[in-house]
Parts: sequence; C-alpha cells; structure tokens
Amino acid sequence: MPIDKNDIEEEQIHFANVVTTFQQYAAYALTANNRRRKDIYTLPKADQDLLIGLGYREKLAEVDKAILANAAFLNQVVDNPEIFGHDPDDFDDGGENVDGPTHQLDIFQVSHSQYQGHSHSHSHSHGNHSHSHSTPHSHGSHSDPRKRPYRPTDSDMDKLRSTIKQFVRDWSEEGKVERDVCYEPMKKALLDHFGDISAEEKSTLRVLVPGAGLGRLAWDVAHMGFTCQGNEFSHYMLLASFFILNRTERVGEHTLYPYVHSFSNIPNKTAMLRPVSIPDVSPSSLPPGSNFSLVAGDFEEIYGEEHEEGEPQAGEWNAILTCFFIDTAKNIVNYLRIIHRILAPGGVWINFGPLLWHWENNSSNDPSVELDLEEVKELARQIGFEISNERTIDTTYTNNSQSMLGYVYHAAFWTATKKAA
Ligand SMILES: C[S@@+](CC[C@H](N)C(=O)[O-])C[C@H]1O[C@@H](n2cnc3c(N)ncnc32)[C@H](O)[C@@H]1O
Repeated sequence: MPIDKNDIEEEQIHFANVVTTFQQYAAYALTANNRRRKDIYTLPKADQDLLIGLGYREKLAEVDKAILANAAFLNQVVDNPEIFGHDPDDFDDGGENVDGPTHQLDIFQVSHSQYQGHSHSHSHSHGNHSHSHSTPHSHGSHSDPRKRPYRPTDSDMDKLRSTIKQFVRDWSEEGKVERDVCYEPMKKALLDHFGDISAEEKSTLRVLVPGAGLGRLAWDVAHMGFTCQGNEFSHYMLLASFFILNRTERVGEHTLYPYVHSFSNIPNKTAMLRPVSIPDVSPSSLPPGSNFSLVAGDFEEIYGEEHEEGEPQAGEWNAILTCFFIDTAKNIVNYLRIIHRILAPGGVWINFGPLLWHWENNSSNDPSVELDLEEVKELARQIGFEISNERTIDTTYTNNSQSMLGYVYHAAFWTATKKAA
C-alpha cells in the first residue's frame, strides 16, 4: 500500500500528542486534587475544622505524593519515544525536551504503512464503562507540534488513566484474579485444540492476538511455547507495552497508584491509596528460542490486506485469540471474514468478551454495526466457523477490587474452528 505523506504526518502529530499527555499527567492530576483542597476553604469554619480533624487534608497530601510517583513512572515510559521511528524533535511537552539514549526496537515490528488508519484511533472504554470516540481532528491542537504545545484533553487523560489500570490487569499480582478468569480458559482451549503435541511442533504453530492491549495474553501464549504475535494500534498501549516488555527487568520494579484519581465509592484509604507493583513476572523470562512479537497497526489493514499478488496473510495463522476485542469492530462482518481468511485450514478462533460496541453513537460519522450475541454467532457460522465450547463467564475489567462499585460483564466464550471449504 503506498504511504501517504499526510497520513504519516497526522500519525506523528497524534503520537506526539499522546507523549505529551503522558508528560502532562502530573500537572493535570495535581490540579484535580488541588480543587478538593481549595474547596475545603469555601466551607464554614466549623465544617473545615471537622474535615481537618478527620485527616482529610493529610489524605489529599498523600494523593499528591501518589500522583507524583505515577508521573515519575509515566515519564519513564515516554522517555525514549523514538522507539516507534518518530523523531524526538517532533515532541513538545510544553517546556522540557524529550531526551534520552537511543534504543533499538526489540519486540515491536512497526511499519508506517501498517500504521495508516491508526489516526482514527479511539479508546474502547471497557475500564470506565463509557464510550469515548475521538479522531485526531478532535484534539485541541492539530497543527505542527513544534510550534504550539499540545494541551491534553479530558479524554486523553481518561485514556492515560485507563492505561495505568491496564498495567494492573496485565502485569501485577493484583490483576491475576481477573487474568485467570479471562486468559486461562482461552489458553486451555488453545491447548485442548492442538492436543498432545511436542514442544517442537508447538513452536511451529502461529497464534495471533489482535487488540493485545499490554500484551500479557500474547506473552503467556509465547511462554507456553507457541509462536505468538500480538497486534495493537493504540499509542497509549504501544508505548506502555513496549516499556514493560523491553525496558523492565525485575519483578516489582515499578510501583503505581492506579486508584487515586477518583474519590467516589471508596470505603477507606487503602482502597484508594494502595500501591500496586509491576511486573509480577520478569517480561524477559521467556524461555530461550521463544518466538514473540507485537505488531503495531490496525488489525483490518494489516491482516486484511489484499493486493494484486494476493492476500499475504491468508491461511497463515493456526489460532487467533480475541479477548475483549471483537466489539471494537465498526463492521463485525469484516472482522470475522478476516479472522476466517487468515486462519489455516483446521485453525481455531477462541473468543472471550462482551459486546460493548465501541463505535455505537460515535460522533465522527463512522459506520457501526451492532449485532446481538446470537447474531454474531450466526454470522460466524455463515462465514464458515463451527462453534463449540460455548459458555458465559462473569468477569470484571480493570476494576478496583476494593471499590464500593463493581461492574461485571457476562462475557461470551467460545471456540470456533474453521470449517473445511
Ligand atoms: C478492550 S481492549 C482489550 C485489550 C486486551 N485484549 C485485554 O483483554 O486486556 C481492546 C484493545 O483493542 C485495541 N484495538 C481496537 N481496535 C483495534 C484495531 N482495529 N486494530 C488493533 N487494535 C485495536 C484497542 O486499542 C485496545 O487496546
């Protein structure tokens, strides 16, 4: 596919804006906390005294400290944004220059042609249960980032806070409960499908995880001995997963405070202020000879690619694992067609997730097809899948487990094999 200069430029601007969002986190989050501090002084003196007696001001000071700790971590994540082939001079964080040693790409494969279309990225807010859609055009500053500092929007910061919680889901001990519910049935179905095979055979089987988030499921599958590739297009996720996978060595190397951004539904201080250590495993501990990669770019563009010479991905994958992914489709028919086409004969598609149609009610005039679960499964059958192992599994998604409010998805699980043509 020819690379359009405007697309690349738009992509770079969007990427620079995401980096700036990471860098502006402290100022943004501290301002929000400061509002609480100032509000105390608008109250009658007697009320102020009671709140001060409760230790409310000290709690605000602890939240400030936690925000600064988060900020130190987030700044490290974007310390070397040239990892994606972007020139660090493109970035303007409103003051400081981005500077640091040059690192080579390790696990990531990035190509600009694959990146096209990412500019229409958006957050699928499973974490905070809201639909949020934005295109680069809706970002505050869409001009040359060298000229004007970008001011992150509330939606940018929302995505960043979701990224922090995604670290808990994928790379902390605390996230294990949620991971076990979501990832374990998928890993088991994968093993069941291929039965008793040698380690050598396993390593020749190619597994794809589209919408890989912070990469833990894909990493786990590679750790099991399969060849595994994750695919992801969000710059938030890509920066964060690059950092955890390629720049983190030690278990518990970093400490995050994921729950300090909202004071609602908090039963006690620990529920809000408890630290979470990441990672729970050393990401570099894949067995020797493991084959693991993450590809940055839009799933439909990369894996659905067709040109005169044919369909480069057709029949290339032995298994595809979609976790909280299929509802990110604008056109689910195309997603399922691609999944079917790129599976090898006898290949398996294992799905887990709800149907929180990501593009429903979007404000960017993008098309959106929103089927119910029965319709999705019937569509899959018509496209050429045989569905088995169907069940409903209740799960949370990046919840604060100590919150007074908890959302539970009744997620759909199935194994689908590609029927012989
Ligand atoms: C709800 S998250 C699930 C992440 C991960 N699978 C998990 O279970 O934690 C959906 C992910 O799909 C990614 N995504 C959405 N549409 C995509 C597309 N067209 N191509 C690649 N990734 C996409 C989003 O950026 C997001 O990280």
